Amino acid sequence: MTFDSHQLWGGAQKGPAPQWRLAAQWVPPPQAQPWAPWLLEPASLTQRLRQHLPPVQVRPVFEGLLAPHPTENTVLGLEQDPGPTAWVREVQLLGAGQPRLWARTVIPHWSTHNPWSQVQTLGQQPLGELLFVWPDIVRGPLHVAHTPMGWARYCVYHRHQAPLLLAEVFLPSLLQP
Ligand code: PHB
Repeated sequence: MTFDSHQLWGGAQKGPAPQWRLAAQWVPPPQAQPWAPWLLEPASLTQRLRQHLPPVQVRPVFEGLLAPHPTENTVLGLEQDPGPTAWVREVQLLGAGQPRLWARTVIPHWSTHNPWSQVQTLGQQPLGELLFVWPDIVRGPLHVAHTPMGWARYCVYHRHQAPLLLAEVFLPSLLQP
């Protein structure tokens, strides 16, 4: 299975765009109950996965410069058409040898001076853990939605005014160990 940002953000696909909601105002419907502890996890998801389905591995699937999806530009508060070039990192997070999560990171206004520039050298090191270790990181509100790929969440982090958008998709396999 490949990661498709259109399934996350809408557009260019049949069916309605996912309805993103503020996690703080979200009342999980019954079918979302098993996902809620994952969706709402305030600390590191990598750590949570390590507790449930060790060992955890990060498998980078794409790392490079791309134009963000239009909804990503909106979420990041940026101009459209074409919008600034962004560093995009897409990974699979494996637990106990199987993909359990997808994560897509988008860092606009990419340059070597960008405060997030070290993300380029992460490789198989999990970004999720660094986000909880680096100083000067401000975390924006968490949003959740059901997407064609599964339940998902996103959050915009800032470091020295520079934004980083992190979207995480929870695959059905997460609840099927
Ligand atoms: C990543 O390494 O890009 C990564 C890892 C774990 C997450 C999100 C992103 O939960």
